[in-house]
Amino acid sequence: MARETWGTRTGFILAAAGSAVGLGNIWRFPWMTAENGGSAFLLVYLVVVLGVGVPGLLGEFVIGRRARRNPMGALGDLSGSRRWAAVGGVSAITGVALLSFYGVVGGWILRYLLVSLTGPVTGGAAYLADPGAYFEAVSFGVEAAAFHLLFLSLTGLIVLGGVRRGIELGTKVMMPAVLALLVGMAVWVSTRQGAGAGYDFFLAFDLGTIRGDFFSILGPAAGQALFTLSVGAGTMITYASYLDEDRSLPFDGSVIALLNTGVGVIAGLVVFPLLFSQGIDPGSGGPGALFVGIAGAFAALPGGELLAILFFGVVAFAALSSSISMLEIPVAVLVDEAGWSRRRAVGALLALIATTGTITALRPALFDFVAGTLVDLLLTGGLIAFLLFAGWVLGRDAVAEYATGAGPIATRFGTPWLLAVGVAIPLFLVFTLMTTLGLDAR
Ligand code: PHE
Ligand code: NA
Repeated sequence: MARETWGTRTGFILAAAGSAVGLGNIWRFPWMTAENGGSAFLLVYLVVVLGVGVPGLLGEFVIGRRARRNPMGALGDLSGSRRWAAVGGVSAITGVALLSFYGVVGGWILRYLLVSLTGPVTGGAAYLADPGAYFEAVSFGVEAAAFHLLFLSLTGLIVLGGVRRGIELGTKVMMPAVLALLVGMAVWVSTRQGAGAGYDFFLAFDLGTIRGDFFSILGPAAGQALFTLSVGAGTMITYASYLDEDRSLPFDGSVIALLNTGVGVIAGLVVFPLLFSQGIDPGSGGPGALFVGIAGAFAALPGGELLAILFFGVVAFAALSSSISMLEIPVAVLVDEAGWSRRRAVGALLALIATTGTITALRPALFDFVAGTLVDLLLTGGLIAFLLFAGWVLGRDAVAEYATGAGPIATRFGTPWLLAVGVAIPLFLVFTLMTTLGLDAR
């Protein structure tokens, strides 16, 4: 049977942008920013998105389109080495690890959406009375595990539909809805009293805060930059492997990075003013910050209930279009390498992730570790491997693949790009990795 491919030109861009835009923009970003000192974190993060994330995205695209295989098969095939195949195989584990915590947050979203939807019937959404206590009560435990299973099932259903009728169709519906609703909400929020303080907090770049703890924010900022662009996991290798025409990879990569950054900024323009207009401190910390703060803001707003439905609906779509890209990594590995049917691969992986995710949903400390440090390490380590592969194993072939379908201007950047991904960026990432591991050589 012929390998699946994207059906339309925009299909690939929407799917990849759908993967990038997600809980990373709306939930993990405010959490990490608050945890790592605010605007200094934001600055380092933006620099890494541009200097590492975008070239890294191109590195994954080049490998994926060149090989037309999953990350394991791609690295193995293009190098003829089983060691590289094993390195690529780590991607399957990364996909499972990512989904093991992402599904739990997805479950929270579905729960808040459901509670918002049934609010008018039940006499007001349950989280409104005391948002802090509510999140505390529902975030971990058996019910959290159940909602996580619901989110996981939705993810599995879409991936089961395959590349065109599942992922492409799903993101074609979800992504425009996410964009339109977020923009609408940002406009509405701007009319609220007290929104200004939120803009100030979000947009005031305070260079002064950067020097003191640069080394301690480097790892988390780099990890977040990779996470938000879905880089380092093998998702983008996998998605590019379904390309069957010679599109400009630098162009598509730039569009995806722009969309992702744009959504991040717009989400910030919704979230921070909402919090500040209610006098809520976004730094009040922890993975629950968004849920507690936003739910509290909705409680105090006229029309807040409708806004809550829209907000959690948007976030659910954004989360699903990312979670399907996590599941697709190990699915593609099993389909390509083991010859499994998509059905069998999805079934087996759902069983596995239902287990690992349930454990995560029961253990807050484990959740924090997986969602924070483990993800930072896997994505950073993964990207180092992919880029060294592109730079040193593919070499000139990587430049040729990069230039295929690219315009004359982008083509001129091929060689500088290869030097960056072969040398400078891996060095930077290794340094980052060491600071994360606590070996920072100060
Ligand atoms: N980029 C996604 C987000 O921001 C998360 C993600 C990471 C998806 C890695 C796939 C791979 O939510
Ligand atoms: Na993102």
